[in-house]
Amino acid sequence: MTMQSVTVRVPAKINLALAVGGLESDGYHPLTTVYQAVDLCDEIRASAVDDGDITLTVTYDGRSATETAEVPVDENNLAYRAADLLRRRVGVDDGIALSIRKAIPVSGGMAGGSADAAAALVAADAIWGLGTSRQDLLAVAAELGSDVPFCLFGGTAMGTGRGDQVSPVLARGRYCWVLGLADRGLSTPVVYAEFDRLNESAPPAEPQVAPALLSALRAGDPAALGAVLSNDLQEAALSLRPELTETLAVGEECGALGSIVSGSGPTTMFLAGDEEHALDIALALTGAGVCADVVQAAGPAPGARVIA
Ligand code: C5P
Repeated sequence: MTMQSVTVRVPAKINLALAVGGLESDGYHPLTTVYQAVDLCDEIRASAVDDGDITLTVTYDGRSATETAEVPVDENNLAYRAADLLRRRVGVDDGIALSIRKAIPVSGGMAGGSADAAAALVAADAIWGLGTSRQDLLAVAAELGSDVPFCLFGGTAMGTGRGDQVSPVLARGRYCWVLGLADRGLSTPVVYAEFDRLNESAPPAEPQVAPALLSALRAGDPAALGAVLSNDLQEAALSLRPELTETLAVGEECGALGSIVSGSGPTTMFLAGDEEHALDIALALTGAGVCADVVQAAGPAPGARVIA
C-alpha cells in the first residue's frame, strides 16, 4: 500500500562500549561495540511527489539555527542518498519530499546523519509501498554507513565488523543519561585518524567488549554498567578537544555512575542513578558552563519507525 505522507521518528545512539582495532586496508577499523538507542530523536516527514525528484529541507529543533547550515540539503545528505539507493535497489523511479527536524547534534558522535538515513529508508519504503524485508533494509543501511543498521534496529545491540553487523543484546531496565552537547562537532574520520596517530607505535588489540558490561545490562544494574563504560576513541577525541576533560570531571564530581565521550565525540554522556540524579548532573554541567547545551535522555529507545 502506498501512502501520501508519513512521519518517521528515529533515535540517537550512544556507545556503551566501543572497542576499536587497527586500521584495515579498506580504510575502516574493525569494531566491537555495544550500542544503545536513546530517546533524543530526529523526525522525518516524507511526502509523495509527482515527479521523480528527491527534495530535502532541514530544521533544527530548539537549538542554534546556524547549526542547520552544517547539514547539506542535496545529494550529500545521507537521507537523500538513502532514498536514492533504496529506489535504485528495488528499481522504482518515484520521487519523495523529505523534511528533517533535527534534535540529534550534528557531528556529535551520536549518529545524527545515520539516524536520518535510517529514517529516510523507513519513510521511502512506506511512501513507495515497497514492503522491503527487514533483512534487505538492513543490507541497504549497511551500504550507507556503519551506524545506519543500528539506527533501524534500536534498543541495545552489539555491533561488529565496521559496526554494521548488528545483533540484539539482552538488557533489562531503563537508563537515565545526561548528554553534554558541544558548540561545534567533530569529524568522525578526523577522530579515527587521531586514534591511528596515537596508536602508531603499538597497534590496537583485537576489539573486545568486557563481559562485565554485558552482565551489568542483563542484570539491569546502572551502577555496575557505569563502572565499565568504555570508549577507545575517547583519548583521540580528548586530544582534539582537551576542554572535554573538564566536562567529564564535572559529571564525575556530581557522582555520575559513568562519564564518557559518546562515539567519536564531542558529545559527552553521563549515566545517572535516576531522573532526579540526572537533573542534578544536568544542572551542574549547565552551572559550570562546560557545555553548549545539556539534554536528558533515556535508553533504550526503539529504532526508526513510522509514528504517523
Ligand atoms: O561508515 P561511515 O561512513 O559512518 O564512516 C565514516 C568514517 O569513519 C569512515 O570513512 C572512516 O574514516 C571512519 N570509520 C572507521 N571505522 C569504522 C567506522 C567508521 O574508520 N568501523
